[in-house]
Amino acid sequence: MTIQIKNDRATWIQGPDAECSVLPAQAAHLWRLVLLGPPGVGKGTQAHLLSQRLGACHLSTGDVFRAAGSRPNCAPSPAMTAALEYMHRGALVPDSTVWDMVRERSACLHCRGGFLLDGFPRTLAQAESLSRMMKEENISLSAVVNYELPLAEIISRLSGRRICEKCKAVYHVTEQPPKVEGVCDLCGGKLYQRDDDRPESIAIRMEAYERSTAPLIDYYRRQGLLLPIEASGSPEEICARTIAALEQRVQPVAK
Ligand code: AP5
Repeated sequence: MTIQIKNDRATWIQGPDAECSVLPAQAAHLWRLVLLGPPGVGKGTQAHLLSQRLGACHLSTGDVFRAAGSRPNCAPSPAMTAALEYMHRGALVPDSTVWDMVRERSACLHCRGGFLLDGFPRTLAQAESLSRMMKEENISLSAVVNYELPLAEIISRLSGRRICEKCKAVYHVTEQPPKVEGVCDLCGGKLYQRDDDRPESIAIRMEAYERSTAPLIDYYRRQGLLLPIEASGSPEEICARTIAALEQRVQPVAK
């Protein structure tokens, strides 16, 4: 079923002092999902589509860092400045910085539409902190969706990615090109290439994924939460595959 919800995400992206102007409708069933998979596999693209269809809010830690780095008239804190340096290099931001940021926004985990965590957790320490906090707050994950794709396709997705500097819509130069080269279809903003999509940063990100994030696959498999999904085909096909697998194998949280 298509719900077509556009969540605001202001509280998540700008921090707890901001308020979401658009709140998702109270869902009959809540999906509380983690999206796992290597950089560039399409987690953000799927989070956007799944959010429209399931009503759950898209919570990306990478989006928070990028938003902090591009906020006009507002100098980032020393911890955020250090985080942005790690990110531009392609390295993981230290767990303590990431956790402080997530904890500050923990109200988003109670979002009445549910949530899709994209890019978090990314290390075992982060996964354990999340698990502890959710237990304390008496909420649980519905599933952990793990997107799988051969490395060559991932590299091609990353190197062709372009982002709108205004509305952050994601394109690909050949697979999902804008109607006019370099211009966002949605808002007319200019498209740019992320710093960490340069070849030298991609290599560092892949290495960080293998070393720190891939072990989460076993961690969540052991908990019976892992849902592997093949990430080939069009974004719509992958989204439909994900929803079919969720509906077949997972019980959403009843309200
Ligand atoms: P983050 O923003 O989370 O980046 P990532 O995990 O590296 O993932 P990406 O955003 O690169 O890829 P994606 O899987 O979302 O793919 P997308 O949908 O865009 O993190 C960035 C950095 O922040 C990290 O490196 C780290 O420094 C820091 N960070 C964030 N969270 C952290 C944490 N928890 N701990 C520590 N550090 C953290 O798609 C990619 C391209 O493919 C696009 O061009 C898209 O158009 C195209 N595409 C998508 N689907 C398809 C398809 N089906 N067919 C063809 N093309 C497609």
